[in-house]
Amino acid sequence: MLPQEIIRAKRDGRPLSDEEITQFVAGMTDGTITEGQVAALGMAVYFQGMTGRESAALTLAMARSGAMLSWDVDGPVLDKHSSGGVGDLVSLALGPMVAACGGYVPMVSGRGLGHTGGTLDKLESIPGYRTMPGREEFRRAVLGAGVAIIGQTDDLAPADRIFYAVRDVTATVESIPLITASILSKKLAAGLHGLVMDIKAGCGAFMPTFEQAEALARSIVSVAAGAGLPTVALITSMDEPLAPCAGNAVEVREAVRYLTCAARDPRLHAVTMALGGRMLTLGGLAGDEAAARAMLERALDSGAAAERFSRMVAALGGPVDFIEACDRYLPRARTTLPVLATRGGRLAAWDTRALGLAVVELGGGRTAAGQGVDHSVGLTDIARTGQCVRAKDVLAVVHAASPAMAEAVRDRVLAAAVIDPMSEEGAPQDPVSVV
Ligand code: URA
Repeated sequence: MLPQEIIRAKRDGRPLSDEEITQFVAGMTDGTITEGQVAALGMAVYFQGMTGRESAALTLAMARSGAMLSWDVDGPVLDKHSSGGVGDLVSLALGPMVAACGGYVPMVSGRGLGHTGGTLDKLESIPGYRTMPGREEFRRAVLGAGVAIIGQTDDLAPADRIFYAVRDVTATVESIPLITASILSKKLAAGLHGLVMDIKAGCGAFMPTFEQAEALARSIVSVAAGAGLPTVALITSMDEPLAPCAGNAVEVREAVRYLTCAARDPRLHAVTMALGGRMLTLGGLAGDEAAARAMLERALDSGAAAERFSRMVAALGGPVDFIEACDRYLPRARTTLPVLATRGGRLAAWDTRALGLAVVELGGGRTAAGQGVDHSVGLTDIARTGQCVRAKDVLAVVHAASPAMAEAVRDRVLAAAVIDPMSEEGAPQDPVSVV
């Protein structure tokens, strides 16, 4: 069938057959279907949705658009994936933590999408780090470090790489079947034995409401089960940035701090431990959640997780002393500007999506497919909701390429802070809302 007929069928609400989906994905991969047609199908799916069967067919066709890896290793092959958020650097820390506990983590990640950050963009702020290694180099890194975080190389779920780049700039990200296929195609191609999904809910997530997040979780778990991949999903809050920073190099710096310092951001730590606990139990490395958490804490405190991170960076072309000297290697923005509260009160909420868009505006994300990003820019010192602030207290610090850009973004960040002048400081909310 002609691609335009497949698009027309979906536009008009007719479920696509397995053959039509397979044919479209093949055309997307070999370049015979144009970017415009990919965008049109994405928008048609956004409005019309897909049945469970269509979602499964799209996922499998995208997974099979390239190589399907398999591993001959002495431990479980595990991964975790986030549905996307702001300040979400969990993968950078958790992959090495699980490797230090005996798992193998071949993590195929994505770039920033819409207002959310991407693990690959973050890692590319490390000089020399190859996010697109050859298959053999990837395998060697996983075997040697226990973890390797890379992108969809030409031969790993290439259809998702193409679709993802188009969705990023055509407002077609927030679709349950498209997110399901995008995430699972990469995970199935990576040859996992188990997957833990971090489904974000809240104003900085693609699924703002709990109900939508739950629907996405159910879609992913059921398509994964149908494809033979045991998967568990947690729903975690994205009502504020997960780490107190958002950007690329700034998040890598925070991940190194998390792996090497005893003082860990409590919110980031709660989500990391909840996800890690599920990974270790799913992979049979721990008998229960409590034992899993104890193993993960030991991996952090002993430095074993930091050492796995170091090995991964070196194996993929980064500096061998990166973890000891990350400040020397990570780029710093030319200008920093504090965002000061204009009045006192309780920081009741952040418009987290607006903070993510502020990072995109700074150049830390993309506005067109294939664009480069400025790794040095972003936000740090983001105040926590529930906290009381006085006028002139720092709500965040903007890292920008120029003073004019810093000022423009400062105003956006200020507008994203909801300060309630009347109420008292609140207790921090548990970010892991549902298991
Ligand atoms: N993460 C992905 O890998 N794909 C999506 O579509 C959204 C989040």
